[in-house]
Amino acid sequence: MDKILITGNGPLQGEVSVAGAKNAALPIIAASMLSADPLHISNVPGVRDINTVLQLMSLLGATVERSGTDLSIDCAKVSSVHVPYEHVKTIRASILLLGPLLARFGEADVSLPGGCAIGTRPVNEHIAGLEAMGADIQIEGGYIKAKADRLCGAHFTLDVPSVTATENLLMAAALADGVTKLENCALEPEIADLTGLLTSMGAIISGAGTGTITIEGVKQLHGATHKVPPDRIETGTFLAAAAATRGDIRVLNTNPDFLHHVLGKLEQAGARLQLGPDWIQIDTGGKRCQAVNIHTAPHPAFPTDMQAQFMALNAVAEGSSTVVENIFENRFMHVAELQRMGADIELQGHTAIVQGRERLQGAPVMATDLRASASLIIAALAADGETTIDRVYHLDRGYANIDTKLADLGAKITRV
Ligand code: EPU
Repeated sequence: MDKILITGNGPLQGEVSVAGAKNAALPIIAASMLSADPLHISNVPGVRDINTVLQLMSLLGATVERSGTDLSIDCAKVSSVHVPYEHVKTIRASILLLGPLLARFGEADVSLPGGCAIGTRPVNEHIAGLEAMGADIQIEGGYIKAKADRLCGAHFTLDVPSVTATENLLMAAALADGVTKLENCALEPEIADLTGLLTSMGAIISGAGTGTITIEGVKQLHGATHKVPPDRIETGTFLAAAAATRGDIRVLNTNPDFLHHVLGKLEQAGARLQLGPDWIQIDTGGKRCQAVNIHTAPHPAFPTDMQAQFMALNAVAEGSSTVVENIFENRFMHVAELQRMGADIELQGHTAIVQGRERLQGAPVMATDLRASASLIIAALAADGETTIDRVYHLDRGYANIDTKLADLGAKITRV
């Protein structure tokens, strides 16, 4: 099993280019199931979650062709609606196939995902929304067994603005009979991007990017080409790493509009930022950052997917801070590992109280989930001595070549 070795050696400097967003690419791949015509997708990130979901698409009978960051998926010959537990437990986003399979084939048999390292993560909103559209859904043997000759338009309000539930319902409604109005939708930019793709496939959607989305169902959707937008969380991860190491980097091929709140926090921490149309420059002037309070909440507030990285930044910043996790009940697994590196963090329920330390010390640590892995990398870059990070397969789920990208920014990092 791969490990990453990092020797903390001062500021990150230089330029780094981010990949397409994993969490935008996953629903786009699921949306290919809505049509018998192929989708041609560019800027697809080379990360393990994408590989896993593409294996699943092939298993269901899709023809998948991939060359570098270009991907074509043809779902004309899909022969199965069974999404097995083995896949869903590896990648929860497989649940995104529930809506598209049901809408196009009239049935779906998708494993319940169960809990994961960051929380229980229920899927009741996905199920309730499809039931509102007339689906008959039974839970049997750990599987969601859904049937509907044709889904019907409905007025459905989500109890919580779940990202993947909004995506699932949006895709299902695109092929339903009549008009669907979804309220309290998630506002994450990946949803507006999915809406853009569905519209270019022939869907009729208004309210994209807002909390209320109206979808006029059509009989069938056609093929399309689409470019995956830049990964806002990979962008934020590099910026946090630069801030923690007192560095000066420029992140290329990104979109500053997606990260407004995170950029505000970096400025509050004392970093100077410059923004271009598709780049962000961060300069700490070689100074230690100030600690900043973080409160995660749905977009456009501070993203839970950046909480762990900012915890690492606060651990080496000047002053004390509170980090409050409001989205997932168990997303503090990185705390115990950061403490092994000398971080001063006290947990009180879903709040972490962090007293910044001038330096952390390298130590053997273990990655527990994707963003926790990123926080350990940031801490290790800002620590004295060597850190070994075990279980880096978590990191590879969502970051493409992060070790080589960091090495290009001057980090002493190797994979063994
Ligand atoms: N929730 C429910 N019922 C549901 C669905 C969600 O109560 O049916 C609750 C969850 O328990 C949670 C909150 O709603 O408290 C938000 O969860 P959401 O459903 O929005 O999360 P998700 O769609 O499963 C996506 C991303 C996550 C990201 C979250 C929050 C994808 C594939 N995954 O997950 O990404 O943390 O939104 O922004 O888009 C990551 O990339 O590391 C990652 C975990």
